[in-house]
Amino acid sequence: VIKTETFTAFKGSRLVQGMMRLKDWNWNAQQLLDYLLQLQAMGVDTFDHADIYGNYQCEQAFGAALKLQPQVRSQMKLISKCGIVLPTAPQSLHQSKFYDVSKNHILTSVENSLKHLNTDYLDLLLVHRPSPFVDFQEVNEAFMLLFDSGKVLHFGLSNFSPQRFQIWQQQIEVPLEVNQVEVSVFQLQEFESGNFDFYQSQHILPMAWSPMGGGKLIENNDIYTRLLPLLQELKEEYRVSDVEVILWSWLFNHPSKMSAITGTHSITKVKSAIEGMQINLSLEDWYRVYTLARGQRLP
Ligand SMILES: NC(=O)c1ccc[n+]([C@@H]2O[C@H](COP(=O)([O-])OP(=O)(O)OC[C@H]3O[C@@H](n4cnc5c(N)ncnc54)[C@H](OP(=O)(O)O)[C@@H]3O)[C@@H](O)[C@H]2O)c1
Repeated sequence: VIKTETFTAFKGSRLVQGMMRLKDWNWNAQQLLDYLLQLQAMGVDTFDHADIYGNYQCEQAFGAALKLQPQVRSQMKLISKCGIVLPTAPQSLHQSKFYDVSKNHILTSVENSLKHLNTDYLDLLLVHRPSPFVDFQEVNEAFMLLFDSGKVLHFGLSNFSPQRFQIWQQQIEVPLEVNQVEVSVFQLQEFESGNFDFYQSQHILPMAWSPMGGGKLIENNDIYTRLLPLLQELKEEYRVSDVEVILWSWLFNHPSKMSAITGTHSITKVKSAIEGMQINLSLEDWYRVYTLARGQRLP
């Protein structure tokens, strides 16, 4: 029986700041705190982590910034993930990468995330990737313990197909509210497969990772090269500050009402994303971008 009456839906900002690349930024705690405060002032209050990011070190770096001003925690939403084990972890006893969604691993992973992030609760916990080795009773027991103790407020999955998502939901007593998946003009799978139809019909929030293709905009990328003249034309037509704004509006205008996780560490690029949220891209222009990204005319 799903105890829906005890849950309220996860509500984070539609633009989420991803923390996967945090260690690459080489910031000290004060620099990170300043960045987080600027984001909060712009309405970006949700931060996406995973236990493994930065070889298990990104959460700690974030926690060190929060320690400087602990009161900011209550104004933010923290997402973390569990389920992947890396052999490169400090003091790891393992020799290879594997997935672990056992009760013990989920509970330990969340305790570590809480300790590293300097917080006593996560707003949202995701299972990072589907595993071929799952005991649903264990996952369910772990999730229920985490929910009942107030250590995790909401739950979801990441990189799951609709079919698998549905099977998990049938086995897990807490509502699974989010599927975090790769979506961008460089990765159209979610559009092509009809997955968005599933999310919309089940009121599941799709959260797009690598929405700018993880840096493909600066690479010599075929799809981007193909898109650029159109993006420049639309930039003039919609009078926006950058071609990137069009790519953001292309995501945010989709009826799935997806949220998106930016991986940038540039306030200017965060501003572009927010600008993209405010543009009403016409349906025809949405399809012009989509068709060029596909590289094939519509049937
Ligand atoms: N659930 C999962 O399996 C999964 C997988 C991957 C990622 N994620 C989450 O998604 C978040 C975002 O992923 P991502 O970092 O790949 O997203 P992204 O925003 O598509 O890519 C960010 C990277 O691209 C660069 N970039 C973005 N726009 C650019 C532009 N206009 N010009 C030049 N460079 C640009 C950024 O550099 P600058 O910092 O210099 O702007 C940064 O290195 C991660 O932090 C993580 O939280 C989840």
